[in-house]
Amino acid sequence: MNTKLLTEKELDQAAAILREGGLVGIPTETVYGLGANGLNDQAVKNIFAAKGRPQDNPLILHIPDVSWLERYCKDIPLTAYKLAQAYWPGPMTMILYHKDVVPDAVTAGLDTVGMRCPAHKLCRDIIAAAGVPVAAPSGNTSGRPSPTTAQHMLEDMDGKIEAIVDGGPCAVGVESTIIDLTCTPPRLLRPGGITLEQLRDVLGEVDVDPAVTRLLGAGEKPKAPGMKYRHYAPKAPVTVVTGDPKRSAEYIAAHAQSEDGIICFDEFLPLFTGRSSARPVMDLGPAGDKEEQARHIFDALRSFDHTTVPAIWAQCPDTSGIGLAIANRLNKAAGFHIIEV
Ligand code: TXA
Ligand code: MG
Repeated sequence: MNTKLLTEKELDQAAAILREGGLVGIPTETVYGLGANGLNDQAVKNIFAAKGRPQDNPLILHIPDVSWLERYCKDIPLTAYKLAQAYWPGPMTMILYHKDVVPDAVTAGLDTVGMRCPAHKLCRDIIAAAGVPVAAPSGNTSGRPSPTTAQHMLEDMDGKIEAIVDGGPCAVGVESTIIDLTCTPPRLLRPGGITLEQLRDVLGEVDVDPAVTRLLGAGEKPKAPGMKYRHYAPKAPVTVVTGDPKRSAEYIAAHAQSEDGIICFDEFLPLFTGRSSARPVMDLGPAGDKEEQARHIFDALRSFDHTTVPAIWAQCPDTSGIGLAIANRLNKAAGFHIIEV
């Protein structure tokens, strides 16, 4: 199959492919998604094949407008509308009970479904033109870092899907926040573009699923099935170093071998350049700018796959705001191999 790169102007082509049961890479504000008609059982199954995704990992449904919620969900609590009012369109997925129209292939047989209305206008336009909800996981091969440009998605999906719509680099850079509204208090299943603090502003009490902050034990099961997989993983093993940025940078400079890959804040680049030309260094952004760090985290992890670094060391921000999402992605890439300095 020849994977076409489509422009914004060709959104009708993308919509037609989706309607007819094909697979299309769609831009969102978080990461690129691998979209299919969410009501077409076979099309949804093809997503799992293209990604190499385990069958027990459910997909989320993307809709262009909050008014579509009732088509697919039932027993919708008032809090869902409050959250939608505050943060949709935007990087937030709500877990709700679904109606029978939603195929088992989407939900992996669960009685709930994730619903998201993306902020990326082109994405909403494609879905509206297709006239169907779009089931879409992140557009990476299962286990690889999520794609934040059309080019990254092409690296993983060339020849496997009909088309990718290029909507530019993703503005947020980490996936949507997943909030489960089927339990009391509501529970954060995955930190993302909408922060825990923002959720608490609207909902009051919010629990944090243990899978967000630590490695689960053998008998434990996260509520978001996808959180159990080693994820976002580059080929080389990753060590995350947290704590005061200056101290974590100095720790890495003292412990990394000369061939190791480094992910650091801009300010500390001079500690790592010039010592060995073989050592690839990726800057995340300024230590004080977590939004910028979020935009670069997957690109940084992905870039090391083109190298032969034996190990990767990463500085990590504190967990306030979108720092919780950055730390979660880094920690998962590291299999929760974290050093606090
Ligand atoms: O930002 C995003 O959410 C991106 C873009 C493309 O929209 N999508 C995305 O999808 O990250 P995916 O499939 O890579 O991650 C969805 C996560 C998985 O961990 C999955 O297990 C969880 O959501 N999930 C989906 N449905 C669920 C449900 N009914 N209950 C609990 N977790 C669910
Ligand atoms: Mg994913």
